[in-house]
Amino acid sequence: MTMVTATPPAGIANAGTSDNRNVLLSVRDVRKVYGSREAVTRALDDVSFDISEGEFVGVMGPSGSGKSTLLNCISTIDTVTSGNIILSGLDITQLRSRQLSKFRRDDLGFIFQDANLLDTLTGFENIALALTIKGEKADAVRAKVDSTANMLGVTDVLQKYPRQMSGGQRQRVAAARAIVADPKLVLADEPTGALDSRNAAVLLETLEVLNAKLHATIMMVTHDAVAASYADRILFIKDGKLFNELRRGDDARTDFYQRILEVQAFLSGKQGDSPAVGFAPSHAVKPRN
Ligand SMILES: Nc1ncnc2c1ncn2[C@@H]1O[C@H](COP(=O)(O)OP(=O)(O)OP(=O)(O)O)[C@@H](O)[C@H]1O
Ligand SMILES: [Mg+2]
Repeated sequence: MTMVTATPPAGIANAGTSDNRNVLLSVRDVRKVYGSREAVTRALDDVSFDISEGEFVGVMGPSGSGKSTLLNCISTIDTVTSGNIILSGLDITQLRSRQLSKFRRDDLGFIFQDANLLDTLTGFENIALALTIKGEKADAVRAKVDSTANMLGVTDVLQKYPRQMSGGQRQRVAAARAIVADPKLVLADEPTGALDSRNAAVLLETLEVLNAKLHATIMMVTHDAVAASYADRILFIKDGKLFNELRRGDDARTDFYQRILEVQAFLSGKQGDSPAVGFAPSHAVKPRN
């Protein structure tokens, strides 16, 4: 198993961690190539960054830029072509299948766009699954499911099946399921993609609470600048490369949102530009609309 020291990736100004928190996740020189000679896609091309414990990181970039691929490699749903991904000192690209299942079960929480609840299980059973698989006692399972459901406002639907819930309720049950076992890292791929703006706001506020109160480390892919503005930091990916990053710092969410829009506009409007890490978008572009 390879141990890799977490150092800021070369060429990315101020990337890595800006504070004194411990590095939780370290992505090092990750490449992912799909296909064979005739049709090769470099979905990830030498991507390196760190995420600290307790950070809420957004991942943005045009369609096809490699965002889901990145999340899938971190979640070990997919394998990297080369490079290393270290979570709490463990190189997860080197895990064998038994260690992989343990890693997915114990260390990760997932929230997908379509919620992905099991149709034949109630809300309670869906949330409880991660705990029962781990062999937790029934009393402990009930207590944890109840408190998580309460926090996410889904106590009322615990006895319902997914088809009997609204989209927002399903999404919040999925969020409860993702965090009930206290994972090290919560991965979310377009978690608000299927929600109306009110339910999206509820889910984002939920993630904010998870992050602020329970110190969950969150990595969220989104194309939505409003959703992204809830994060502490945004990584922008273009053509499989880390293109830029924004930190919220002390900005109000609305100000951060404006900065995100500017980079988004730059990314979509100026195809073919070389990576402009650390560029000042306010001098370069105007926000869309
Ligand atoms: N299984 C696969 N086989 C071949 N190519 C793939 C595969 N999965 C993804 N790709 C390609 O890799 C690139 C990155 O895809 P990815 O799904 O990571 O993009 P994305 O940034 O998540 O896009 P979107 O915003 O549309 O979800 C794309 O060009 C895509 O066509
Ligand atoms: Mg995607």
